Amino acid sequence: MVSRRLFLSSAALAPFAHAAGAPAGTGGGDRPVVVGSSNGLKAAELALARMQAGVDPLDAVIAGVNLVEDDPNDMSVGYGGIPNEDGVVQLDACVMHGPTARAGAVASLEGIKNPSKVAKAVMETTDHILLVGPGARRFAEMNGFPVENLLTDKARKVWLYWKQNLSAKDKWLEPDAAKLDPAVQEFIRDYGRDSFRDPRSHGTVHLSACDGRGDLAGCTSTSGLFFKMPGRVGDSPIIGAGCFVDNAVGSAGSTGRGEANLLISGGHLIVERMRAGRSPKDACLDALRRIAETTKEKRLLDDRGRPAFPISFYAVSKSGAYGMATMWSTRPSGKPAQFAVADARGARLEAAAFLYEGMATI
Ligand code: GLY
Repeated sequence: MVSRRLFLSSAALAPFAHAAGAPAGTGGGDRPVVVGSSNGLKAAELALARMQAGVDPLDAVIAGVNLVEDDPNDMSVGYGGIPNEDGVVQLDACVMHGPTARAGAVASLEGIKNPSKVAKAVMETTDHILLVGPGARRFAEMNGFPVENLLTDKARKVWLYWKQNLSAKDKWLEPDAAKLDPAVQEFIRDYGRDSFRDPRSHGTVHLSACDGRGDLAGCTSTSGLFFKMPGRVGDSPIIGAGCFVDNAVGSAGSTGRGEANLLISGGHLIVERMRAGRSPKDACLDALRRIAETTKEKRLLDDRGRPAFPISFYAVSKSGAYGMATMWSTRPSGKPAQFAVADARGARLEAAAFLYEGMATI
């Protein structure tokens, strides 16, 4: 039962004239179910299969996320992730487990391929929630995680190309555009030329899951902003922002501009909206509207005063309903934004609901 006060406050969250996009993603009610970012399609499929086999929902989503972390072709997560300004891959991840109401996270972790597994070890074996930098690395080594070079040759070439193009006033010579390395060409095709011009591009994988009993879990993992400042941490490892789970209500998470999500605690906000009776999709749209209302800096807005950056939210409720919404309808590749779902109907990409028609410009 939604109280009148909560209902009014949810209406007050929607002062924008822009119609939300496609109605897709309102679906669900089937358990188990997994919802997540589009790069997590196979991850969602695996997590579903694990839950169908009786595996705990957190272990299931971590197994799914590990697929993306291990994939050198996903340059926004784990092994093969785009490095920071200094050419060093620094990873962030968090996990949250509904049944025990526990969480764990790591940030700025170097040399360990599966930060989501380390986050789970933080949750299970320490009194802490978040370990960062060298402390997180030491903890991972103590727990037997192998130390590996996470910088693939492709990511190194992409980073070098970015560095060579940074300034006309440094000592690097601009590479010959006609002789671009195939690795760089492939990166431009997959992530867009703006990923170099404007080194604020985002990736990240998120999965939220609800098992057959209605138990919930979430996991988010990322290599963060492309060419970020060393030590920069976004929303992904922050419980309440990049991921949040309340086993009585639902699970939610985010991909995209972490700084924007940190300012609204999106994961927590979405779960609270669902507690107030909003559907997962509408709760995700509420978070986007909150960002649109509260983003004031001109450099982050387009000429119509709309947030010019990409950000997306994903949510699943205890009943198995799921939803997703994104700020802009179209991805940098020009394709319509989508998200991953896996349930009894199989694993698939569905059309994203969105706040604005068009493409993020930063
Ligand atoms: N959402 C990922 C990041 O901003 O690092």
